[in-house]
Amino acid sequence: MTDELSTVSADAQSRIAGAADAAALEALRIELLGKKGRVTELMKTLGSLPADQRKVRGAALNVLKDELAGALDGRMATLAESELHARLARETSDVTLPPRPMPDGRIHPITQTIDELTAIFGEMGFTVAEGPDIEDDWYNFTALNIPAEHPSRQMMDTFYLKTGGAGAPRVLRTHTSPVQIRTMMSAKPPIRVIIPGRTYRSDHDATHSPNFHQVEGLVIDKAIHMGHLKGCLQDFCRAYFEVGDLPLRFRPSHFPFTEPSAEVDIGCSRSGGELKLGNHGDWLEILGCGMVHPKVIANCGLDPEEWQGFAFGMGIERITMLKYGIPDLRTFYEADLRWLRHYGFLALDLPSMTGGLAR
Ligand code: PHE
Repeated sequence: MTDELSTVSADAQSRIAGAADAAALEALRIELLGKKGRVTELMKTLGSLPADQRKVRGAALNVLKDELAGALDGRMATLAESELHARLARETSDVTLPPRPMPDGRIHPITQTIDELTAIFGEMGFTVAEGPDIEDDWYNFTALNIPAEHPSRQMMDTFYLKTGGAGAPRVLRTHTSPVQIRTMMSAKPPIRVIIPGRTYRSDHDATHSPNFHQVEGLVIDKAIHMGHLKGCLQDFCRAYFEVGDLPLRFRPSHFPFTEPSAEVDIGCSRSGGELKLGNHGDWLEILGCGMVHPKVIANCGLDPEEWQGFAFGMGIERITMLKYGIPDLRTFYEADLRWLRHYGFLALDLPSMTGGLAR
């Protein structure tokens, strides 16, 4: 390279190295290699040179051009990297800082109870399953051993959806039990799930809401028996209500999808018009349960000789009202901020078995 080109090169390189940001660098690229750039202008002078000089000078100019292009790329990469570092440094947050003042929002007691249930059953090895609110008649009833003419279809005050003639009737699920069917048909046993969710019945008064919540439990395994059911529900009730010696009473009952079936009462007292949970001689019904009916297991394509299990279902509003002393079911859905401030929970107080369920 001639001295002249070496000077151009050295000068350009030092300016490239000193470019402060991407915009300055781009301006430099245009100044050097652009259509009217320094190097381009030099290239244009080649035509006026004699052939032998042109060849040498042309090669030298190409070297210069590659050099500068390389220097520009290199500087660009360096700038991009330091920009990234600067951004990473700028955007760090100090996780040891205390949280900002709590916003006014509260966790609804229904959500709180579902979180508590999930924590307790999670500890016992259950996972959470879900299903759709709009169900086929088959999942909600038929597969659960509730045939078309069965009186419990009436009893459940079902909301039927218009089907437009074709297809099986669809319903708003009247319980979370159809998710038992969906789970058994899609998961391989052994199965241990709880299924919290919305349920619907055409019923509206002080103690019934057309939209309410249930939690279903389902265990399917080999050699499961009623003892497992009793132990599981006893552990759950004592943990949830936080009464260590809470007595449970299993009363024979009937559900088409369990055999045998039982309703479970927990101990309480009602003296002085006040309800207190514990071993006080009186009883309060809280849930239905039983051993999953062999026909239901077979309906899901499993062999009931090989797989058995238990199921239970309870109303979430009911156990929430009992635990937190909420007197009126209807207030759950009124979205009254004063009520939420009073009965709601702080967003950061996540229930856990080790950290405590509710504060
Ligand atoms: N699905 C029943 C109801 O809604 C409750 C239940 C669930 C009973 C599972 C037994 C087993 O009343």
